[in-house]
Amino acid sequence: MGGGFFASRKLLVSGFVLVFGACVFVFAIVMQQGQIPQINFQLPSIITSDKAVQGLTDKAVQGLTDKAVQGLTDKAVQGLTDKAVQGLTEKATVGIKDIFDNSNAIKYLQSYAELFKGKDEDLQDADPNNPESIKTWWQAAAMIDWYINTPLRYKCKKKVAYGNWHVCQDPPYSVKPPCLVYSFGINFDFSFDDAMAKLGCEVHSFDPSMEWEDKKRGPNSTFHNLGLSNKNTDGFNPRKDMYVTKKQIWKMRTIKSVMKELGHEQRTIDVLKIDIEGYEWDVIDNMMETDVFKYIRQFMLEFHLFRDWPVKEDYVYLYKIYTRLREMGFREFSIGPHPKTLKANSFNNQGDSEYVNAFFNRTNSYS
Ligand SMILES: *[C@@H]1O[C@H](CO)[C@@H](O)[C@H](O)[C@H]1NC(C)=O
Ligand SMILES: *[C@@H]1O[C@H](CO)[C@@H](O)[C@H](O)[C@H]1NC(C)=O
Repeated sequence: MGGGFFASRKLLVSGFVLVFGACVFVFAIVMQQGQIPQINFQLPSIITSDKAVQGLTDKAVQGLTDKAVQGLTDKAVQGLTDKAVQGLTEKATVGIKDIFDNSNAIKYLQSYAELFKGKDEDLQDADPNNPESIKTWWQAAAMIDWYINTPLRYKCKKKVAYGNWHVCQDPPYSVKPPCLVYSFGINFDFSFDDAMAKLGCEVHSFDPSMEWEDKKRGPNSTFHNLGLSNKNTDGFNPRKDMYVTKKQIWKMRTIKSVMKELGHEQRTIDVLKIDIEGYEWDVIDNMMETDVFKYIRQFMLEFHLFRDWPVKEDYVYLYKIYTRLREMGFREFSIGPHPKTLKANSFNNQGDSEYVNAFFNRTNSYS
């Protein structure tokens, strides 16, 4: 067997040659393979960098363009000609931080999808952290509902009731004389206005539905027979609602015009209160087109989604307005959901949001 193999010298030599040849062959392969991995090593690195660059474009850069830059360019910042770049940077940073906090809203989206028979794919596509993914009325309604039930963005240490609203008396947001207060939507309830006047603020109250003449109500308090709108007109026909039961003609002004007419241009509005029965959406939109929010220290808003108005087609847009408020630095220190109706034919939701303007400091230092 083995001994027989090496018995012949010839065989032994040829065996040796064979083994030597095999070694050379293997060595050659090893040499060759030694180069192949080098080539292979370079190829993936090219692919990787391709992917990295492309991935960056897809996710980061595009995401940035979509959310930060685009969202900022279109409305809020357009009015700001001065130091627009800083404004962009601030809003981008804060906006993105805010958007990441909405994961629990998925529960609202799920229950709205169920209640309003939303399509499965619409539910799957809705990402509470990505406002661009909100595309149907029920998604938007769910997100607004989440916002009015969300954990507070600002924990106010000294929340003080003034009539039927609150003011956050934490520095640097504190409201003390000399202070200016605008209160839109009164319906004969001056409790907030009078409390602010008593504090010593200059208070202006506005409500055309009461059909009062302009009048001075006290040393610190004035009533104006006009309404807040996104355009100026003296012949506005309001829709009928629980406060407007007969035909009326209203004088309407933008907030910029009100400030100009009252000689308050460039002044800080320490508290702006808006409770105007559904007209708030157009008004806020108009305010965002100007630089007026940077002059507002605290903002009190009652929002309204009535059964038939605004129309459902506008909900995605209304949600964007609501989102943009946060991106502009407005942080809820108090929220008050009202009873809501979650039915397809009679959907209705309203609530109070009370905000401090976290950018107040920085934005005002522009001027
Ligand atoms: C601006 O903010 C800082 C800290 O956030 C505060 O100390 C300062 O008083 C604020 N200034 C004004 C004018 O509100
Ligand atoms: C009006 O404001 C002043 C401070 O400017 C305050 O002392 C006074 O009590 C206020 N008056 C009323 C009636 O609210």
